[in-house]
Amino acid sequence: MDETKVPTHVAIIMDGNGRWAKEHNLPRNEGHRRGTKTLENIIKHAAHIGIEYLTVYAFSTENWNRPQSEVEGLIKLLRRYLDQHIKKAPSEDIRFNAIGDIFSSNIPQDLRDKIIHLQEITKDKKGLCFNMAFNYGGRNEIIRACKSIINDILLKHIDDEMVNEEVFAKYLDTGHQPDPDLMIRTSGEIRTSNFLPWQLTYSEFYFTSCLWPEFTVQEFDMAIDEYRRRKRRFGNSE
Ligand code: FPP
Repeated sequence: MDETKVPTHVAIIMDGNGRWAKEHNLPRNEGHRRGTKTLENIIKHAAHIGIEYLTVYAFSTENWNRPQSEVEGLIKLLRRYLDQHIKKAPSEDIRFNAIGDIFSSNIPQDLRDKIIHLQEITKDKKGLCFNMAFNYGGRNEIIRACKSIINDILLKHIDDEMVNEEVFAKYLDTGHQPDPDLMIRTSGEIRTSNFLPWQLTYSEFYFTSCLWPEFTVQEFDMAIDEYRRRKRRFGNSE
């Protein structure tokens, strides 16, 4: 692919695992397992074409309401992902970063420990930064950011006069990262579902009917090509 104007940051809502499983007469968790394989392919490819940040919606604050067997299946997949990548970390150039409320009591302690460990051992990697949104909700993130700001004001670490959009953004889970240039959602749903509401304000959106387990690197490149044809104006007239 022509590497000019490759987006710096791509965000993805990986949707359609359940429908894919149903179409193939398989349990929903098999859809998530296949979806994890797709994710591994996309991470490798994104790093290869020079994307600097990839953020995926792996588990939302609302996903706890799914049947217990499905929640357990998703947590098992995440555990396996973390174990595998903790092992592979020395030979991989990927910086792992979790976004979301990972300190919530919903999250099993061993999982939190693995998340923190993988973040720690990959923090100096110079390749792709892979943000996994886990127990993530955009409104929850904004409220947590507000609470941290209030705390810093009370502790006199910052002055309330200093709070502007730039300062506020630093308190979000994506901290010092650039906002996504492109947001992709699979499965034909045309909404953002509480995913990065602050950060996606000026992003380009790409929706495809392809179900996530069937999403290929070729489909990903089609989204990038479409992005490259878009004219971004950020509220300006030209
Ligand atoms: C939405 O599909 C997808 C999710 C709720 C989970 C996405 C998670 C993965 C692809 C695996 C993540 C990887 C790790 C390592 C945790 P859906 O189940 O809502 O699909 P449906 O709308 O067709 O029912």
